[in-house]
Amino acid sequence: MDVFVDRIAAAISGKTGVAASEVAPLIQTSNNPERGDLALACFALAGKAGTPGKDAAMALAQTLVGLSIEEVEVSAAGPFVNFKLAPAAIANDVLSRVWNQSPYGASDEGAGQTVVIDFSSPNIAKPFHLGHLRSTVIGWSLRQIYRALGYEVVGVNHLGDWGTQFGFMITAWKRWGDEAMPRIEAGERDVDVFVDLYVKINELAKKDPGVREEARSWFAKLEAGDEEALKLWSFFVERSKVEFQRIYDILGIEHESERGEAFYNDKMPATVEKLKASGLLVEGMTQRETALSKLERAEQKLEKSELELKQTEGKLADESLKDKARKKLSKRQGKLQGELPKLVKTVERAREAVPADEDGLRPQGVDLGEGMGFAILIKVNGGTTYTTRDVTAAYYRAETYSPSKVLYVVGQDQRDHFLPWFKILEAMGETWAKGFSHIGFGKYKGMSTRQGTAVFLDEVLEKARARAAEAAAAATKKVELSEEEREQVAQAIGTGAIKFFDLKADRQKDIDIVVGPEDARVIDWDRLLNLKGDSGPYLQFAHARLAGILAKAPEGSAPSLDAIDFELLGESETLALIKVMGEFLPKIRQAAEQNEPSVISRYVLDLAAKTHQFLAHQRVLTPIPQEGVDTEALARARLFLVACSKKTIAEALDLLGIEALEKM
Ligand code: ARG
Repeated sequence: MDVFVDRIAAAISGKTGVAASEVAPLIQTSNNPERGDLALACFALAGKAGTPGKDAAMALAQTLVGLSIEEVEVSAAGPFVNFKLAPAAIANDVLSRVWNQSPYGASDEGAGQTVVIDFSSPNIAKPFHLGHLRSTVIGWSLRQIYRALGYEVVGVNHLGDWGTQFGFMITAWKRWGDEAMPRIEAGERDVDVFVDLYVKINELAKKDPGVREEARSWFAKLEAGDEEALKLWSFFVERSKVEFQRIYDILGIEHESERGEAFYNDKMPATVEKLKASGLLVEGMTQRETALSKLERAEQKLEKSELELKQTEGKLADESLKDKARKKLSKRQGKLQGELPKLVKTVERAREAVPADEDGLRPQGVDLGEGMGFAILIKVNGGTTYTTRDVTAAYYRAETYSPSKVLYVVGQDQRDHFLPWFKILEAMGETWAKGFSHIGFGKYKGMSTRQGTAVFLDEVLEKARARAAEAAAAATKKVELSEEEREQVAQAIGTGAIKFFDLKADRQKDIDIVVGPEDARVIDWDRLLNLKGDSGPYLQFAHARLAGILAKAPEGSAPSLDAIDFELLGESETLALIKVMGEFLPKIRQAAEQNEPSVISRYVLDLAAKTHQFLAHQRVLTPIPQEGVDTEALARARLFLVACSKKTIAEALDLLGIEALEKM
């Protein structure tokens, strides 16, 4: 609609003397389509023109009604001016852009700026869990969205390939490797075997402190560059990556850079130096002190609750107490009584956790004060932490890419990890850290993540395959698919279903795809794979439906922008579809501003719904003849619209990482 906004702003500027560039932002999409497509509230404009106030705004509105603007009808309601655009002009503007832009919706407003997106980032020798799946899907969509806006995007896989878990893994492998290797050789997935060992060794360590010691010393050896430790480490890394790659291939996802935590090992001393130089690095509490302060806090909480409970009881004993107050008090009493045992337990646990003897060793870190506490950067044994590695990676990214934004697509539960170290960078005076954000997301509810996502993913693909086969068998006359095509379609439907389910709601919301009674929870396959509701397959089907119409067009009638009579696209369902198509770029912008792919998900749902409505009302290839209308020209215009809608749906799906299908 930019053309019209500019045209209107120019006319108003001519009349009022206010610069067109100041008028344009005041013109908004109307929320009353009956009255007009665009609207202007005159208050601000009256002020700019030198006569503020409501009366002046009303008077101004009346003056503007007299304007004559090409293809725009102007009317006023009180202090509001409405602009109704000629339907053919809208159609011409929107559809020409859809047709000529490649890809449609792309812009260059981000040119010259780089966005680093840290996404997926699974851990070696641990399960690739549903949180990683969400990060992968959301991160990829953000990558597509920023790219559409012209940004240079660097997708980074920050693999968890360093940390104490490797001490445990090596200890486990030394113990049980001889039994584990044959399982792998017999075809079991490496990662599954690793995870088994990881779980087993952790259980053993709980009972046997010697195992914990052994793991610690193996990790120390690894950090010191011990040959055997390194060899096993790279074995775990390489084998795990094979499984990750399998998942990325299925999902059709890649990263521009794959640099795990280990990549930063030799860069860590520089970080520590910087922190020291800034004076921020201080000694923290010893283990015993930390435990004692936790205990103290727990005891205080317990004491406070006990006191309040006593007071509540005292007040309740007062006979003159009004009913309402009594109710409120006894509710509070109930709550306190319920909480008390939990608090007692916390205190007990905190007391047990206090180590008996004091080795006096202190970690080093940054004290972030009330609320955030102490962020440990160097552990008592001299080792670094997840935070040290992230701070180091932050410097590396800032120096390597000079990004305007760095986005960390990681579960909401890691908020307490990210905010403190963002704060550390701020305290260091690193202005670039302003562009760093944690893009958190909710979790999958009611699913066991123990076995990781692989099972879920494979299961969905299997179901999708079965459905695609079923559908194809039922409609053999309509869609002809070769064996190979069917395979591809099934995979695209399966991954499309998962991705859309992940992206359709606000990312911060939890995902609920499990139904059934407590003891028999199952995945709601119908919701995930259905062709009618708000699912990925539904959107893919809308696209395939349009492709089907285009395929049936007679030879020599390939859609083209020439010779389209836009006057023929004025029916209300048709125009509604065209208007939605015109909103694509503003939606992409909004999605980027909020780092929220669901803006696009909702948009493409709307687009598909409007497309189906258009098709329900208008025949495309064989329009019903109308008095004074060239039927062939009508078919041509509608076919062109079909092609434009197909293109827009495909581009929007691409922003979600979902494959648009020609046949299904
Ligand atoms: N590997 C981490 C995990 O699985 C996620 C890493 C996210 N990225 C980062 N820079 N911390 O929890």
